[in-house]
Amino acid sequence: MRYQNIKSELREGINLVVVDRPKKLNALNRETIEELHQAMADAELNDEVKVVILTGSGDRAFVAGADIAEFSQYTEEEGRELAAEGQRKLFDFIANFSKPVIAAINGYALGGGLELAMAAHFRLASDNVKLGLPEVSLGLIPGYGGTQRLPQIVGKARALELIMTAEMIDANQALQYHLVNHVVAQEDLLSFAFDIARKIMKNSLVAISTAIKAVNANYDPQLNGYEVEIEGFGASFATQDFKEGTTAFLEKRKPNFPGK
Ligand code: COA
Repeated sequence: MRYQNIKSELREGINLVVVDRPKKLNALNRETIEELHQAMADAELNDEVKVVILTGSGDRAFVAGADIAEFSQYTEEEGRELAAEGQRKLFDFIANFSKPVIAAINGYALGGGLELAMAAHFRLASDNVKLGLPEVSLGLIPGYGGTQRLPQIVGKARALELIMTAEMIDANQALQYHLVNHVVAQEDLLSFAFDIARKIMKNSLVAISTAIKAVNANYDPQLNGYEVEIEGFGASFATQDFKEGTTAFLEKRKPNFPGK
């Protein structure tokens, strides 16, 4: 599939998805959200894709937010629809993705950019990043899940301070806030992300998918996460990966998971 605003390429089972509007600091307009949705939907269906890494093109920005020029004239109804459609098609879609999604934050991740990174399962950062939810400086609030995911990750008080001040934090503070798991030099960011992806791929991807569901259940008020865990634990016993993993352990060899 040909994209105008993103790039998507598969390398050794790892789907690298790059937001590619560097002149606009990779700001998310509707077309970019649609293309990201398409790339993620393809990655979900493609058995060759084991892990997805999301990043931004260039060395300045991951994503500098939703495209302000695009929505500046929107009505109340259009604004509501923008948030609802974006959350459904991209942000919730990524959070509930059945395969691991890693955000490799390579520069500014502001507003929708930080929300995109927070929808991923975990985040890595280069040492030049600036992260924030500056929406109130535009007379808005975060609309792509930021008011929910930021407090889940950093705690309510830190989230409210970041949202209220509209200020950016640097890589060290993001690490201290547990907003990113690791900080590396910018030139090492992608190879570091690929190394983590390769470590993940040695394990049972069926089990990983079940684990994502169980962890996510913790944040869904409609679900009892402990019950989801019990279900997933039980279901694991019926997989070929379980047979292979336990047999390999007992035979003192490395497992070769069929991924079923
Ligand atoms: N939406 C639309 N365009 C954006 C954008 C966004 N969120 N963020 C950056 N851009 C565009 C700029 O308008 C500019 O385009 P132009 O060259 O056609 O004028 C280009 O990207 C470069 O940005 P610029 O502001 O000139 O770079 P800078 O180095 O001076 O500042 C930022 C970088 C990130 C601090 C600044 O661009 C910024 O504050 N962006 C908006 C962040 C934001 O509020 N995001 C939340 C949106 S809800």
